[in-house]
Amino acid sequence: MCGIVGCVGPRDAVPFLLRGLERLEYRGYDSAGLAVLTPAGLQIRRTVGRVGRLAENLAQSPLEGSPGISHTRWATHGPVTGANAHPHRDATGRLALVHNGVIENHDELRQRLLAEGHVFSSDTDTEVLAHWIGKSLDSATGWDDYLAAVRRALAEVRGSYAIGVLDARLEGSLLAARAGSPLVIGRGGQESFIASDEQALSGMAREILDLEDFQIARVASGSLEIFDRAGSPRSSPASRSLSLTEVDEGLGGHPHHMHKEIHEQPRCLERALEGRLDEDGATVVFAGLHRTNRQLREIQRLVLTGCGSTLHAAMFGEYVIENLARMPVECDCASEFRYRNAPLDTQTAVIVMSQSGETADAVAALRESRRKGALVLGICNNPRSTLARESDGGIEIRAGSEIGVAATKTFTAEALALAMLGIQWGRLRGLPAAEATQLLKELQSLPELVRRTLDLEEQIARVAQRFAQAPNFLFLGRQASYPVALEGALKLKEITYRFASAHPSAELKHGVIALVNPDTPAIFLAAQDAVYEKNLGNIAEVKARCGPVVAFGSDGDTRLEALCDATVLLPATGGLTAPLLQSIALQLFAYHMAVALGREVDRPRNLAKSVTVE
Ligand code: AGP
Repeated sequence: MCGIVGCVGPRDAVPFLLRGLERLEYRGYDSAGLAVLTPAGLQIRRTVGRVGRLAENLAQSPLEGSPGISHTRWATHGPVTGANAHPHRDATGRLALVHNGVIENHDELRQRLLAEGHVFSSDTDTEVLAHWIGKSLDSATGWDDYLAAVRRALAEVRGSYAIGVLDARLEGSLLAARAGSPLVIGRGGQESFIASDEQALSGMAREILDLEDFQIARVASGSLEIFDRAGSPRSSPASRSLSLTEVDEGLGGHPHHMHKEIHEQPRCLERALEGRLDEDGATVVFAGLHRTNRQLREIQRLVLTGCGSTLHAAMFGEYVIENLARMPVECDCASEFRYRNAPLDTQTAVIVMSQSGETADAVAALRESRRKGALVLGICNNPRSTLARESDGGIEIRAGSEIGVAATKTFTAEALALAMLGIQWGRLRGLPAAEATQLLKELQSLPELVRRTLDLEEQIARVAQRFAQAPNFLFLGRQASYPVALEGALKLKEITYRFASAHPSAELKHGVIALVNPDTPAIFLAAQDAVYEKNLGNIAEVKARCGPVVAFGSDGDTRLEALCDATVLLPATGGLTAPLLQSIALQLFAYHMAVALGREVDRPRNLAKSVTVE
């Protein structure tokens, strides 16, 4: 987690650093800080809370200088305090350091440093790292010594890091190093930069270069030197131009980014379908998979993996692909999969999913699968991400930038990608053309069905407000609506801080029913599908125990209306798309409850948009 930005050039670095940091807040927003080299020496400014607080602080009491390094934090070691905010200094105060990652042997290093008389002012692993590197620099004279000392220090460090180091001894340059955490180098007109991702440098850098694991870079405004872990100079990696159009971060008249992103879904889904539905062949075509039909047919088993909302989308995919392609599909959260010794053979493809493409556990799952020789496909929203770069092929979900921490449009776009994949692989494995044609029609109607679902917002808001004071919620669904129930519960927990627990409807009887009481609403997903009657039975069981029931059903379902305390009837559609409509309705449900409770919808407490530590 955490985002870092560094800037070096003839102009004041502070405005560049603040601009970059604001774009990295998706990686954490517990505290922010920066260090710049000023005529009066190395100066640090740190504030608790969002980058905006740091900007206000600097507006009141400006700092000016270059080079500079900066950081936005998601707390791992130590609470959210000013003392724990980055940058951290070494014992001499000459070096300042920002860090993204986790130093796993920080305790051991801290003890060694304490024994030598070091005094720490924070609980962080980063301050230990600053002292550890600083100590090795005691006798460094000149750049060669400096580099050798940093290499020696880092050789004893275990864990993950991307660091930026500011030190007057670096003579107008910055030092950057990485192992396991992302870091790019950017070059603009007069300035050079380091950053956790290239998006942070949009509008500031014209070209981007990737630093590799275990490399150390010395970044100056007109030069770049890169060294490997043995200290040997490496040629600069190939650069790519920063073609990113400025990310549209405006609210476009919406009260929150989450609201805007929920309403963007019809257009996102249209974009995701564009050019991919082959009506003549009654199939779906994904050019990015880089595989012929013959190669795809050789795959006999799929493993889908990801985290959080993306894992829920993967679980939806498991139902859909198994059903359409009649092939075994397993789904596992990436954090488990990476450490589980899952058997993978040449006939298994691992589909690693991550909207950001930078989630640490997802990237680790990808690398573990590659080590085992499996074909690795990625599903992702960022074609420039680590996941996209390291996969053998994949699908871009085309959702556009998602600023709200709670995933909304990326969840539906991921689910849609898997629905399309189900049709494509189904057609390779016996799905009749007539059936596939029907499914393609269903997908084509999805954007319009989503628009009609969004038209129900006022009704959904009223239901959310009515139940906003309930402390606990149950979310229940069957088949492909079960992952949607999980996702609905996650949305509610994330942005309302209410407790919610999701289960397959039939699991109620196996224990969860003990939680049913008049203060615990049960949210049922009950479209008129093959398991509709079963769901009605489960609803009756809750009602018989005086539990309030809110049901999301299908248009015209008067039976459901008669049975439940509140009912939202969604456009009637097929089994491939109904779960997506339910999911959008649950996004609105959580959103309006969070607004009613006065929560910070776009930046909920304790969270970060992209989880770049394991
Ligand atoms: C969902 O609302 C969360 N933001 C979170 O669960 C997220 O889906 C998860 O961290 C995975 O992120 P990714 O898709 O970028 O890998």
